[in-house]
Amino acid sequence: MPGVGAVVVAAGRGERFGAAKQFLPLDGSRLVDRAIAACAAVADAVVVVLPTGITWDGSPAATPVVGGATRSASVRAGLDALVARDPATEVVIVHDAARPLADRALFDAVVAAVRGGADAAVPAVPVADTIKRVEGDRVVATLERAGLVAVQTPQAFRTAALRSAHVAGGEATDDAALVEAHGGVVVWVPGSPRNFKITDLADFDRAAALLVPEPR
Ligand code: CTP
Ligand code: MG
Repeated sequence: MPGVGAVVVAAGRGERFGAAKQFLPLDGSRLVDRAIAACAAVADAVVVVLPTGITWDGSPAATPVVGGATRSASVRAGLDALVARDPATEVVIVHDAARPLADRALFDAVVAAVRGGADAAVPAVPVADTIKRVEGDRVVATLERAGLVAVQTPQAFRTAALRSAHVAGGEATDDAALVEAHGGVVVWVPGSPRNFKITDLADFDRAAALLVPEPR
């Protein structure tokens, strides 16, 4: 799509996993390569944000840049590179390398929502479990589950909205939170239960099982 750029964040350390999970192959293709391919299907430029000291040996269609100490810092590095490359980028997609099972439909839905006027769009799935706030071993509050959703990537942004949300720095586990804090209009589209993030080894095993062909 003209005017669409994508940032794949792949500069994490994978502390909970125990390894830089984004470079592990899943059914023959590394998580980072899967995320880039998914982005390249909808974006005309893709930047991949990598840990320091990595020589990029993946798709030449992705421009490698070095990330930061936090996810937000890595997104900023990717965004700066994307805008420097193509200042006319109207819509920016931010996608976690750690989500190998994001469907094309999710990318199309978030981009369409931004093209439709939102500052940002995120895929979200209703929360099934009751969510409580805890402090140490004490449960201190129970949140009202109605109206709670769990949010995924790919997230899409009007480039100017994402840039102004990031300009003052700021840290959040997703970029939409920075746009919300900046007063931007953030909408959600239906996410996919398949599009879970690979956080620990059990998630990786689950994703691998989903990619095994059904017996006939
Ligand atoms: N990420 C990044 N730069 C960072 C931290 C995270 O680009 N400084 C990326 C990760 O590579 C991943 C995505 O952001 O694709 C989501 O982060 P997460 O699942 O938390 O991965 P890690 O930070 O690598 O894992 P952990 O928090 O367990 O260390
Ligand atoms: Mg992390």
